[in-house]
Amino acid sequence: MPGGAIGGPAFGPGPAGQAQAVRGAGAAMPVPPPHRLSVAPMMDWTDRHCRAFHRTLSRRAQLWTEMVTAPAVIHGDRERLLGFEAAEHPVVLQLGGSDPAQLAQAAAIGADFGYDEINLNCGCPSDRVQSGCFGAVLMERPELVAECVAAMIAAQPRPVTVKCRIGVDDQVPEEVLPAFLETVSAAGVRHFVIHARKAWLQGLSPKENREIPPLNHALVVQMKRDFPQLEICLNGGLTARDQVPGLLDQGLDGAMFGRAAYHDPAAVLLGADSTLWGQADPVDSAEGAAEAMRPYIARHLERGGRLHQITRHMLGLFTGRPGARAWRRLLSEAGGRPGSGLADYDAALAAVVSRAA
Ligand SMILES: Cc1cc2nc3c(=O)[nH]c(=O)nc-3n(C[C@H](O)[C@H](O)[C@H](O)COP(=O)(O)O)c2cc1C
Repeated sequence: MPGGAIGGPAFGPGPAGQAQAVRGAGAAMPVPPPHRLSVAPMMDWTDRHCRAFHRTLSRRAQLWTEMVTAPAVIHGDRERLLGFEAAEHPVVLQLGGSDPAQLAQAAAIGADFGYDEINLNCGCPSDRVQSGCFGAVLMERPELVAECVAAMIAAQPRPVTVKCRIGVDDQVPEEVLPAFLETVSAAGVRHFVIHARKAWLQGLSPKENREIPPLNHALVVQMKRDFPQLEICLNGGLTARDQVPGLLDQGLDGAMFGRAAYHDPAAVLLGADSTLWGQADPVDSAEGAAEAMRPYIARHLERGGRLHQITRHMLGLFTGRPGARAWRRLLSEAGGRPGSGLADYDAALAAVVSRAA
């Protein structure tokens, strides 16, 4: 059973993308929406264990699934592909595809599972994705994207969002990006996440496509000025949470972190709830997050899962701190051993704590 369907949002995020009122002493105070800071969809990385871990550092940040293709959602093992725990809210399901009917069906299934938003991937440049005519190649087909999102919106009640690039190949971003936003927003999308670099569909690997095309943050800021009615979040090359207030000051609605959130999660997520949402932080240290993960890990092990399936996402928790290498090494060694468990986890944590003392 999907966690979202059982318990509903654990932290009351409300309809995704909208500020909601939280009652304290006195008047209701608006809480900014979760996409103020989000952790990007990353294939093989942002699985449910990674999201459960990131959730120990921030209750508010919006977390995203890996991309799942619409046919996989329709024909595949749904619980394995889509299952998640209530504590992961607010969480966004990212879909890949370009067939409006399939995407509509997949979006409806995702909504039934309890996802807060459904996103369409228009930014992923990998060969496999291009051959299926989806991902970044859709930057060349805004009318088709509009058809897809219109079908997804009609099929289910959750907000439908789009994650895109500023253009592909020899497109001129200053021309194609506003035209893309115009066409796709006319079909009902209000929220865009823009990876602020082009994708080159020929000749670059997916990894090179995240590094070589130059970043153009200014163009994304300009899009927010040109389309003030849209929610526009910036993605690409951000390294730490303290960059977010400056981006918000420029008018943007939020910042999405990919690699930095994975490799140095504390730099991005620790303290986010208090600084960006005015809420209490769930933990005040990386050690606190490691402690908070123990019950989750224990449950996973009891169900026959392996330690490494969770701890592989946690290797960067102490990045830049004394003991970081010992933590990484001890967890990696334990990951390779059959039968490793909480004692190995505790030993790795003790090594960090003793170095820090
Ligand atoms: C390992 C990996 C897998 C990724 N998978 C996806 C994906 O499934 N969908 C997507 O839209 N972007 C994907 N991306 C791109 C990220 O979402 C993000 O747009 C990109 O890494 C730029 O952000 P960053 O500079 O903060 O890392 C992936 C990135 C990485 C590193």
